[in-house]
Amino acid sequence: MVYLETFGCQMNELDSSRMIGALAEIGFRRTDNPGAAEVILINTCAVRDKAEHKLYSMLGRFRELKRERPGLVIGVAGCVAQRDSAALLKRAPYVDIVFGTHNVHRLKDFLDKAATDAGVVVETAFRDALEPEEYAFNEVAADARAFVAIMRGCNNFCAYCIVPYTRGRELSRRSADIIAEIERLARSGAAEVTLVGQNVNSYGANSGGDCSFPELLRKASMTAGIKRVRFMTSHPKDISDELIDAFSEAPNLCRHMHLPVQSGSDGILKKMRRGYTRDEYAAKARRIRSLYPDMSITSDIIVGFPGEGDKDFEDTLGLISDLRFDNIFSFMYSPRPGTEAAAFKDHVPAEVKAERLRLLQEAQRGITIARNGALVGTMQEVMIEGDSKTNARMTSGRTRCGRIVNFPAPDGYREALGATIRVMITGAYANSLAGEFAGQGQGRTPGQPALLNGLAWAAAAQQRDGLSNR
Ligand code: 5AD
Ligand code: SF4
Repeated sequence: MVYLETFGCQMNELDSSRMIGALAEIGFRRTDNPGAAEVILINTCAVRDKAEHKLYSMLGRFRELKRERPGLVIGVAGCVAQRDSAALLKRAPYVDIVFGTHNVHRLKDFLDKAATDAGVVVETAFRDALEPEEYAFNEVAADARAFVAIMRGCNNFCAYCIVPYTRGRELSRRSADIIAEIERLARSGAAEVTLVGQNVNSYGANSGGDCSFPELLRKASMTAGIKRVRFMTSHPKDISDELIDAFSEAPNLCRHMHLPVQSGSDGILKKMRRGYTRDEYAAKARRIRSLYPDMSITSDIIVGFPGEGDKDFEDTLGLISDLRFDNIFSFMYSPRPGTEAAAFKDHVPAEVKAERLRLLQEAQRGITIARNGALVGTMQEVMIEGDSKTNARMTSGRTRCGRIVNFPAPDGYREALGATIRVMITGAYANSLAGEFAGQGQGRTPGQPALLNGLAWAAAAQQRDGLSNR
């Protein structure tokens, strides 16, 4: 059995799914008990130091397991492995396999090698090609959702960010390979796909893709069986009119854009090398909202970037109250060795960062609750995802704009993961909405027969689980 722990972004989630898929082929089942596993894998994140700290304390615990069972294989994947395998092995010499972001698909070979070789297996070379076989394994989650990588890497080199160093240069997959993967996922029960890349807007731009990103979205949204298409993450500087128009052309495209702004101060944006000003960003966000009033716009914000003064931070607070994002993810700046900003002089004291984060989150909380509250009394299409995490008697799903909705499901719908239904919104909180079931939803895929009923979806989900638990 294999135990797998995933840190970080949706790209890591996807890579983890590829690892589980590849291991299922050779008979491994997944367990949530590390004590029962023959193989333990950790897919790591290097974006902030917090995740790295967690990694090392977790590895310390696994070391104890290895003392009891020397045959246990411990593998470390992802951005920490990619960035500095030597440092990792120095701190955790008991690790058996270290493999980087371009070598996920070779996991089976690494396990074979670890079984026969006495030494540690290290594979962190960057590869210039992207072959369809690399994505041969990708699992549909129990909730009928799947991620699809459309590209890898990033060329932007924002001053704070480690990603261009851990994931290499941008490279796009061929559109036919991507669509074939989405068709395969749909046949295995996926109702929703999220197209992922570090900067999906530059799909196809000088990096191997053969059509524009909006064109790819249109093709993806036509795939039979796929009811919802999402994407992550768009760089605000590269949002084109064609992309904005795609929302009116592709009926399955969910009304949600994650547009990380990072700061509301022009001075800081420049030092971050973001490639847009506050006004340019705000103009794009306003245009999107005026064309699509039901669009949810979420963002990422970093507080305490080097040189950020009180005035800069006030500009950020001003921007969030002007634009009223539906939600934000906010972070204290964390210096990443080797990035441009780590060498900047005027670092902000930790307590100032913490206070700014608190103020920002408090301000956004009010905005999020108000924006969620505006949906009370509306009818929303909700895709069923499973039992509610906070109340096991409730069922949980997501609106097209990406909000979690908890509601009591009638018989037959509770296990109908991936079915779309209509829900009347009755309550709004900071992290979710409450609602009442109001009937079967509309299938939205052009040319598709009416939506499969809930029971048929439950049967399909059971069959899928049976397959993936082999
Ligand atoms: N420190 C803090 N936050 C960071 N992010 C990226 N690098 C850093 C860093 N060094 C944040 C950005 C990005 C999100 C995924 O993580 O906001 O959009
Ligand atoms: Fe990092 Fe900037 Fe690339 Fe995003 S666009 S992955 S923040 S370098």
